[in-house]
Amino acid sequence: MFAEKGEIFYRFLTVEDKDDVINLLANNFCIEEPICKCLNFSEKERYEYATYASMFLADNRSMGAFDVNNSEKLCGVMINSASDFDPGINMEDYLQSVSKNTQYSIRVDNFLHKRIKELTKDGHFFACNWLSMDAAYFGKGIAKNLTLRTNEWLKNSRQFDMWVGVSVAPNAKHIGEKDGLKSVLEINMSEYQDEKTGERIFANAQIPLLHILIKAVKSTKSNL
Ligand SMILES: CC(C)(COP(=O)(O)OP(=O)(O)OC[C@H]1O[C@@H](n2cnc3c(N)ncnc32)[C@H](O)[C@@H]1OP(=O)(O)O)[C@@H](O)C(=O)NCCC(=O)NCCS
Repeated sequence: MFAEKGEIFYRFLTVEDKDDVINLLANNFCIEEPICKCLNFSEKERYEYATYASMFLADNRSMGAFDVNNSEKLCGVMINSASDFDPGINMEDYLQSVSKNTQYSIRVDNFLHKRIKELTKDGHFFACNWLSMDAAYFGKGIAKNLTLRTNEWLKNSRQFDMWVGVSVAPNAKHIGEKDGLKSVLEINMSEYQDEKTGERIFANAQIPLLHILIKAVKSTKSNL
């Protein structure tokens, strides 16, 4: 849908892209993203968490960027879902099946999802769950293009009232703000307590404030 001339090709991702998405997230997001960085994932945990994230591809709302000049290598992803998307797992059983840091991370995601549900008063929203570039492609404007294309699609789709994202990396916040999202809540993760163990897992971490960003989505089409 977003095919265009040039070096980078953008399209919606499907479950067929799962292996490439897992590799990209495990070797970039899980190393560079500030929360993952604090948790200092092992290789096994990186792949476990990336596999969890890849389940959201099944909602068919995620976007990928591909390098035309490098065998159409996947170089960036924006993993999105509708607020009511259910990855079809029993969360308690799933958490038992993964390593400690992976459990912490998934519980952080669940905590944030609950905060967002409260903030949006259980509205039907579009959520950007994971935004990541392959590090070899950082700073080239590709992440910004992924969100721009998503913004265009959202305006035309008329399916959602709101677009919600979470940023902990300052450049990710900047990208969201360029698309018109605004920070509605700042969370100091040094005070965060793990829901199961009560541990303040980020108490001594150098971690930026986490922001929940929201934008009202206005359809560009008439409602007739
Ligand atoms: C976040 C991420 C996807 C951004 O990718 P990127 O390739 O740097 O993004 P782009 O080049 O498209 O855009 C970066 C923008 O952020 C700006 N920026 C860079 N560093 C910044 C900073 N410290 N504070 C604010 N803005 C910053 C750039 O100037 C650019 O904006 P501009 O075009 O208006 O000048 C990438 O850094 C990444 O994959 N990080 C690891 C995973 C992660 O942290 N994901 C976000 C989780 S919240």
